[in-house]
Amino acid sequence: MLQRIMKPVLLVVLLLVLARHTYATEGMWLPQLLSGLNEKEMKGMGMKIAAADIYSINKGSLKDAIVSFGGFCTAEVISEQGLLLTNHHCGYDAIQKHSSLQNNFLENGFWAKSAVEELPNPGLFATFIVRIDDVTKAALQDVKPGMSERERQSAIDRRLNEIRQQARHESWQETMIKPFYEGNQYFLFVTETYRDVRLVGAPPSSIGKFGSDTDNWVWPRHTGDFSMFRIYAGKDGRPAPYSKDNVPLKPRYALTISLKGVKQNDFTMVMGFPGRTSEYLPSEGVKQTVDVLDAAKVEMRDAALKIMDGYMRKDPQIKIQYAAKFAGTANYWKKWMGEMQGVKQTNGVGKKLQYEDTYRQQLETNPVWKQQYGGVLDSLNGYYQQIQPYAQARDYYSELVRNVELFTVGDRLISFLNDVHERGEAQYETMRQQFLVSMQGFYQNYNAGVDHDVAVSLIALYAKGVPAQLAGAEFAQIWQENNKNSRALSDKLYAASGLTSMDKLTAFVQQPYNTVVAQMWKDPATRLVMAMRKGYVDNISRPLADLQSNINNLQRIYMQAQMDVMGSKKVFYPDANSTLRVTYGKVDGYNPRDAIHYDFYTYLDGVMEKYIPGDYEFDVPARLIELYKKKDYGRYGVNGRMPVCFIASNHTTGGNSGSPALDAYGRLIGLNFDRTWEGTMSDINFDPAICRNIMVDIRYVLFIVDKYAGCTRLIDEMKLL
Ligand code: ARG
Ligand code: GLU
Repeated sequence: MLQRIMKPVLLVVLLLVLARHTYATEGMWLPQLLSGLNEKEMKGMGMKIAAADIYSINKGSLKDAIVSFGGFCTAEVISEQGLLLTNHHCGYDAIQKHSSLQNNFLENGFWAKSAVEELPNPGLFATFIVRIDDVTKAALQDVKPGMSERERQSAIDRRLNEIRQQARHESWQETMIKPFYEGNQYFLFVTETYRDVRLVGAPPSSIGKFGSDTDNWVWPRHTGDFSMFRIYAGKDGRPAPYSKDNVPLKPRYALTISLKGVKQNDFTMVMGFPGRTSEYLPSEGVKQTVDVLDAAKVEMRDAALKIMDGYMRKDPQIKIQYAAKFAGTANYWKKWMGEMQGVKQTNGVGKKLQYEDTYRQQLETNPVWKQQYGGVLDSLNGYYQQIQPYAQARDYYSELVRNVELFTVGDRLISFLNDVHERGEAQYETMRQQFLVSMQGFYQNYNAGVDHDVAVSLIALYAKGVPAQLAGAEFAQIWQENNKNSRALSDKLYAASGLTSMDKLTAFVQQPYNTVVAQMWKDPATRLVMAMRKGYVDNISRPLADLQSNINNLQRIYMQAQMDVMGSKKVFYPDANSTLRVTYGKVDGYNPRDAIHYDFYTYLDGVMEKYIPGDYEFDVPARLIELYKKKDYGRYGVNGRMPVCFIASNHTTGGNSGSPALDAYGRLIGLNFDRTWEGTMSDINFDPAICRNIMVDIRYVLFIVDKYAGCTRLIDEMKLL
């Protein structure tokens, strides 16, 4: 009897367990569409609030606490006085600008003891989303079948202007329209931008950047990657330029903070401004991204990083000069390697091919689809094959100019001279001054010896990687003159160029405009840059633009085709485009490789395990060690341990840094700052088995603010649960 009952019960349990695992954690969703597309699933995964608590235009909702931070990161409001939380690496530039040798806030941290000590940051802004409207119909109303891509775009652009101007908004608000689903839909955003954003607090880099490049993109992670700012508004509460009379912003909504922490399988939600993804590439596009483009970029950066590293290890001065450059170059170098490996490991290309098979079969079942979309996918894959050499050459070119700084300067000089040409020679004097001022910071961190060696490696890789007919006749000429020897060429460049120091550059542009222009083909460095640039413009960027326009067109049609043909199997989300999105998932570990399992939580014990006294990546501040030894965690510890970071299956990308991690009740539990290395391929191929985002536990943030820094005035203004 019991047996008989047990069996169906077990079956139901089993089915439930299986069903749990089929929840889609893939997707970066539009907050205003959640109620129609996602609410049910989110509740099924454990969410306890309604879609209207996340996005509402009638009442304060979660979206009113989230801002785009300077356009490159996300931040959230965590008090009724406009206090903002974001990552340390998002606030890095601001912290660096306020730092000096006497007051090294990067190294020692910074805590404003009162409002008057909060530091303004010219240029930094925080943008709220007031409202999002679907304007697709109005945007596309002049689009006619058979229009060329260019005609279509100008028909749309004319309408967009009109829609933007007519959109209802207040005088202090802005409007912006962006394409979604590869240009099949358009949404209007009404926004409010505050430009008085002040630095409030930051931990020392040994906490905020703990693990540095070695741990970047890596789990298990132990970084307290946070910093705090505050939005100031005019007395009327509206955006106002910086003034000492401005007052802390009274936000429409401030996040409540939960000290409860998370358990395995708990629902999590991350809201923020993800920058760019390409989730709907055809198989040829995915293959090309990892096999060709990532590979080319990694090859170039590999060489550049090895050389920088060699010098940095030998020379402390160079180490300081090149630290930020090295980190910037290493960040995506590592990300692309993870992407290549992840796509391979999860058979990303094979899965796309399988998906394309299903799509084709499904397409065949409906004559209307066949007529509308037949052949689109094949043409698209065909165009990706055609664009390959040009896209590869573009990436070699941009990596060369980026990593050989003599070429970066040369390129900037050319752009500057072009600007003068456009605005008139009368402007030369003033523009020259501005140009020189803008170059000063650059030379402080420039070492011609390092750059020379980078050039020796990278020019050779460029000449090998880019076919002669694409690099162009001018480059071929110079390459020939130097017997295809990049060392000989580089020796000449660095010995004779007027660009290798601030003094030389100043002397160079001190000459009359026409002399400078004439000199451009004589100075060996600028001559080479001009030659490469000419090759790039004539042979690479033109065909690239034509092919790309065809690809964009087909990518749009293919997107619509997938939504029609595969719509019953899958709900589609638009690729990231730096607009506000919601992603949701579950707290969970993963198995990166055979026999290895990663847990989902890290603790302060792990910081101490990684501790290397005096090391630039893994040093730990004495005060933190002391708190650890005393287990003095206040109300933030659990069972005598201090949680540091955790992971979950939220689908995030660059730009999501600083995004709040929220629990089932929409309460703040953590701060997003990275992804795991094995899962960085989620930008083109999300796989729920290994794609995880990394967050700092909010309790670690509060512990550092409260116990480590003693900045209790900040804790007092927050709502803690
Ligand atoms: N990988 C993170 C993000 O892409 C963090 C980067 C900053 N941290 C660093 N160690 N470079 O962009
Ligand atoms: N660190 C990234 C950022 O700066 C977020 C990590 C990611 O790419 O997911 O936005």
